[in-house]
Amino acid sequence: MFDRKTHWQNVYKDKSSLDVSWYQKEPTLSLELVHSAKVKSDDAIIDVGGGASVLVDHLYKEGFSNLTVLDISENALASARERLGDSAKNIEWLEADITQFNAPHPFSLWHDRAVFHFLTEKSDRESYVKSLKHALKSNGHLIIAAFTIGGPEKCSGLDIVQYDAEKLIAELGKDFELLEERNEVHITPANKEQTFTYFHFIYVARI
Ligand SMILES: C[S@@+](CC[C@H](N)C(=O)[O-])C[C@H]1O[C@@H](n2cnc3c(N)ncnc32)[C@H](O)[C@@H]1O
Repeated sequence: MFDRKTHWQNVYKDKSSLDVSWYQKEPTLSLELVHSAKVKSDDAIIDVGGGASVLVDHLYKEGFSNLTVLDISENALASARERLGDSAKNIEWLEADITQFNAPHPFSLWHDRAVFHFLTEKSDRESYVKSLKHALKSNGHLIIAAFTIGGPEKCSGLDIVQYDAEKLIAELGKDFELLEERNEVHITPANKEQTFTYFHFIYVARI
């Protein structure tokens, strides 16, 4: 039976984080969307399935002081911590499966690049949305990037679900209002093109 955690632990054991297909030297679009959310520098930001992404390095350098990186793979987190050196101690590192995540404190911004799209089972997507709603403050920001409809069908050898806005809204429900969507052609380290769409939502929690 497929074991998600083992899969991701092996990915980060067997490959350099610079060689994985999703590697980005500059997370340009993620940063632009975080900036457009206009969160304060001490607002809590979580990068879900952040892996060894350098988004956290950029945000930390920009002065964001309340950063969390969550990943199912301890190897991925270890690699990011090592890269950040001394600064790593100022960041919260959580090893967890996002479908079973119980946030230890509320967040103002939730960022997910290429994680939700791995959830091919409806029950996992529902659990993710439950974790998200528990974690995000009212009027908090959600940034999700997934492969575009017509884009790649697999990532890391696993089936994924491609999204457009309508399909994603159907998963998230009416408490999330779409503010913006942007497309990106990501060039992998092996020089292949992958089309992503980034969606920026606001969580309008109904009380
Ligand atoms: C395609 S990579 C993207 C990494 C990072 N977001 C980036 O853009 O560079 C997917 C990441 O999600 C993590 N992941 C996959 N399934 C997960 C889950 N159920 N819970 C938490 N992390 C997960 C993997 O370990 C991996 O680091």
